[in-house]
Amino acid sequence: MTNKDNQHRQTDFGFKKVAEEDKARQVREVFDSVAPKYDLMNDVLSFGMHRLWKRYAVYKADVDRGMKVLDLAAGTCDLSLQFAPRVGRDGEVWATDINRAMLTLGAQRMRSAGFDSPVVQCDCEKLPFADDTFHVVMVSFGLRNMTHKDVALREMCRVCRPGGKVLVLEFSKVNRLLAPLYDFYSFRLMPWLGGLISGDSDSYRYLPESIRVHPGQAELAEMMRQAGMTDVKWHNLTFGVCALHIGRKPLND
Ligand SMILES: C[S@@+](CC[C@H](N)C(=O)[O-])C[C@H]1O[C@@H](n2cnc3c(N)ncnc32)[C@H](O)[C@@H]1O
Repeated sequence: MTNKDNQHRQTDFGFKKVAEEDKARQVREVFDSVAPKYDLMNDVLSFGMHRLWKRYAVYKADVDRGMKVLDLAAGTCDLSLQFAPRVGRDGEVWATDINRAMLTLGAQRMRSAGFDSPVVQCDCEKLPFADDTFHVVMVSFGLRNMTHKDVALREMCRVCRPGGKVLVLEFSKVNRLLAPLYDFYSFRLMPWLGGLISGDSDSYRYLPESIRVHPGQAELAEMMRQAGMTDVKWHNLTFGVCALHIGRKPLND
């Protein structure tokens, strides 16, 4: 593949096709814009459900004292805040995100809660960590925004220790009986509420579109296997509105 071919490759940005090299910038603009009201909007748009989904994911991550945990695309650090007391003083939680505005808010929340966890601005597709570093690697509601999800999943597997867990919490394919209601909510109410509360209906139009073009449960599980994980399973949450995928990095022979 030449550089020229690369420049002309297209990817999804919601329902639009954009040049691959433009997607990260457009995603950054979305999160720069939504950052100040991000936590409020999460509560409003999910009716508080995102708190339960995240709590369930942290429970399934099953972290123990002394473990090293990586929270990718951590945003405002909801997960890191739950992991930090579980790993205790002997453990480590690293919060990372590509977006400075989101991560600045996350770092402030971690400090206010009394945790001095390291916070690193980096792209999940190029992680600045050595192979086999973390017992648990997790991303919540971040993967669908990434340009090369396969590359990000390989990176997650690479930095996970053999036998360690990789978890992906993400919006998924909802049960088809709920689909008409969910579509009405997503494409009509969500952008309207986003505009009303945050003054940015475009970002809340991107949100449901990015969910619809994201791989469904079985496809994501296959992508995780292709990225090197084994024992991949998923748990549907709220009828598949989102799903928690869990895989393991195989033990060395
Ligand atoms: C919907 S927020 C999720 C934040 C948090 N994990 C949560 O569950 O509330 C998505 C986050 O993914 C981040 N992100 C998007 N692309 C990324 C990439 N390539 N590498 C790292 N973070 C990325 C965005 O900056 C944003 O903070």
